[in-house]
Amino acid sequence: MSLLLDNIQLPANAAHHIGLSLVQEAQHTHDKLKTEKIAVIGLGYVGLPLATHLAEQFRYVVGLDINTDRVEALRSGIDRTNEVDAQQLTSSGLRVTDRISELSGATFFIITVPTPITKAHQPDLSPLKAACKAIGPLLKKGDMVVLESTVYPGVTEDVCGPILEQFSGLDAGRDFSLGYSPERINPGDKTNTLDRIVKVISADSASALDRVANVYGEIIRAGLYRSPSIKVAEGAKVLENTQRDVNIALMNEVSKIFDSAGIATQDVINAAATKWNFVPFTPGLVGGHCIGVDPYYLAHFAQSVGADPQMILSGRQTNDGMVKHVKEAVLSMLITGRSIPQNAKVGLFGITFKENVPDVRNSKSIELVHDLKKLGLNLFVHDAHCTRLSAEHEQIELSQAAQMRDLDVMVVSCPHDAYLDQPGFLDQLKPDGALIDLKGAFRDRDLGGRRYWTL
Ligand SMILES: NC(=O)c1ccc[n+]([C@@H]2O[C@H](COP(=O)([O-])OP(=O)(O)OC[C@H]3O[C@@H](n4cnc5c(N)ncnc54)[C@H](O)[C@@H]3O)[C@@H](O)[C@H]2O)c1
Repeated sequence: MSLLLDNIQLPANAAHHIGLSLVQEAQHTHDKLKTEKIAVIGLGYVGLPLATHLAEQFRYVVGLDINTDRVEALRSGIDRTNEVDAQQLTSSGLRVTDRISELSGATFFIITVPTPITKAHQPDLSPLKAACKAIGPLLKKGDMVVLESTVYPGVTEDVCGPILEQFSGLDAGRDFSLGYSPERINPGDKTNTLDRIVKVISADSASALDRVANVYGEIIRAGLYRSPSIKVAEGAKVLENTQRDVNIALMNEVSKIFDSAGIATQDVINAAATKWNFVPFTPGLVGGHCIGVDPYYLAHFAQSVGADPQMILSGRQTNDGMVKHVKEAVLSMLITGRSIPQNAKVGLFGITFKENVPDVRNSKSIELVHDLKKLGLNLFVHDAHCTRLSAEHEQIELSQAAQMRDLDVMVVSCPHDAYLDQPGFLDQLKPDGALIDLKGAFRDRDLGGRRYWTL
């Protein structure tokens, strides 16, 4: 049970601050809402934790995924994304299926399918449209459809709404309601979990917004933020990630500038961060399916309204150019170490898009591996989280830990905790070798005189 205060809705344990009669009233609504029958469409990084949390609170929660292997693995208690453990998966009571017909009893549909970009960097709404086509025929009067997938303003009402209307024969806003609630989870982050992040919610009417609040209020302890409109909520999500992308791009540009002058960028950032209003973003490779993708959704929207998103696209260009910059640093380290590049042994650690997750989608470290291979280097690649199969899918053969020694150059592309905590990790590098430490994770370690480079 949750309570509403101004725009932020607080969880039930705040009740004693409010007074008993309000609590009794809320109890009545609470009992009613437990009858909401929820379907979550797309059980990936976003959908699975959401469905599991909901299943802990609601009697009827069904999760649908079109990937049969994913559904079978989940039924055996295995979540390859490592976001939900086997115990939580089984004890939550979540039902998972790959058959759309099993969602026919649902009243509240939440869509969490991917929203990638095409090769031309345009939004690819095909999984979203397919999901709407699939659930359209199941919609009944009084149902609610909420999108969580990241989209640009207008997609929920102007793209999904008409498809749902077409395939249901019903009218959006009159027969069924639409809502949007962007997901903000941070894969691999065990502190800022779904329930601990304020959730933005929106809907096409005040009563529909109450209904969305009632559902999410059951699982979000951090509180709900009621967005004034669906388009505002859609815009907020792409803005959040674009802001990060542009700021990281600035740090990447600055890093290149200081690097050519022999100045350590991290030292400059540390010094600048002593000012109260400096925001300490750091340089790095920007990959994954959010920060490197969502700005293109905002850029597409900008162009659709006749605006020129110069800064957004420039940030993307800068961040995409960082692989080339790192490749040149590897070559430079080999040459200054007087190695003949093709004879030297290079070890690259971490190919996932960020630390401590197994996800390699849009990983810039993968691009770096392929670029280094093209140079004909004797390259060995290791990852503490990525499966052999996922790596092979990216045309990368992972090496065993034992093969990662006597390295002339060690590239720590993604500093998983497993590397940071591994005793003697840096001993895999020859005494006259060079460490390329993209995130500066080993910056304060004793390198025994080895050469060092970071962004
Ligand atoms: N992963 C994140 O950190 C994160 C954070 C915030 C928002 N998002 C957004 O959330 C959305 C989902 O991202 P994700 O990382 O969970 O993706 P994901 O690829 O991990 O999972 C999506 C799942 O949806 C399934 N799917 C695809 N089409 C389907 C359909 N028509 N019907 C049923 N299932 C279908 C896929 O098989 C997959 O298992 C995207 O819009 C993404 O931008 C992701």
